[in-house]
Amino acid sequence: MSHARVQAEDLALTGPTLRVRIPRLDDAGALFAQASDARVTRWFSWGPYQHEDEATAYLQRLPAERARGVQLDLVVEHRQSGPIGITGFSEIARRDRRATIGSWLGHDWWGTGANREAKALMCHLGFLLLGLERIGSYTGVEHVRSQRALESIGFEREGVLRAFHRHGEQRLDVVVFSLLRAAWESGPLRDVPASVSGVPPPLFVSTAR
Ligand SMILES: CC(C)(COP(=O)(O)OP(=O)(O)OC[C@H]1O[C@@H](n2cnc3c(N)ncnc32)[C@H](O)[C@@H]1OP(=O)(O)O)[C@@H](O)C(=O)NCCC(=O)NCCS
Repeated sequence: MSHARVQAEDLALTGPTLRVRIPRLDDAGALFAQASDARVTRWFSWGPYQHEDEATAYLQRLPAERARGVQLDLVVEHRQSGPIGITGFSEIARRDRRATIGSWLGHDWWGTGANREAKALMCHLGFLLLGLERIGSYTGVEHVRSQRALESIGFEREGVLRAFHRHGEQRLDVVVFSLLRAAWESGPLRDVPASVSGVPPPLFVSTAR
């Protein structure tokens, strides 16, 4: 295994109470416990988990998705409580220096500030380490909590994408939000301290040749 590979597998950003890091197979139990709650997965095309094997299968898919530059999902780990959710980048467009962020947290962590800190760490990763200029996010038109959560950390509502998300047999409209690098640089998330270890997987770095 090359030195660069080892470092990418060690990527972690640590803030005041949380760390976002590359997931491990032994996170399955904690992720299953959080995402077997239907409130957590209500707006997703998957879940709630019925068996821990589903969390294991998800975790087993991630290394190949990272290697292909498709999805960079990180575990959100609380300093005392361990894994509390997932946050990740998808739709990586290196030429345009943009990506889309999606997140879920266990229900006990809603309204605690964990979302804000996790998003601050991901913005640090996205804007400073990956070289992004734009981080977008989608949320269901009826998912008011998620819309408010995005607005409260500085994401701007841009409009509605029609029939964008397939949920079972339903086609759902979504609201698209974004945070641009300049707004992040002058906004509140930039002030959340973050220390970095490891390096991002190379295919996610917009500024890499
Ligand atoms: C989306 C998620 C990560 C947001 O994190 P959170 O900790 O719940 O968000 P916050 O508490 O920081 O912010 C929610 C905001 O919505 C408000 N809110 C909550 N319920 C609301 C409702 N029914 N109507 C209007 N506003 C509501 C809160 O008051 C808060 O606003 P404020 O910051 O101005 O006080 C979390 O709820 C989650 O993991 N949900 C399940 C997975 C999910 O749906 N992910 C998003 C898919 S698009």
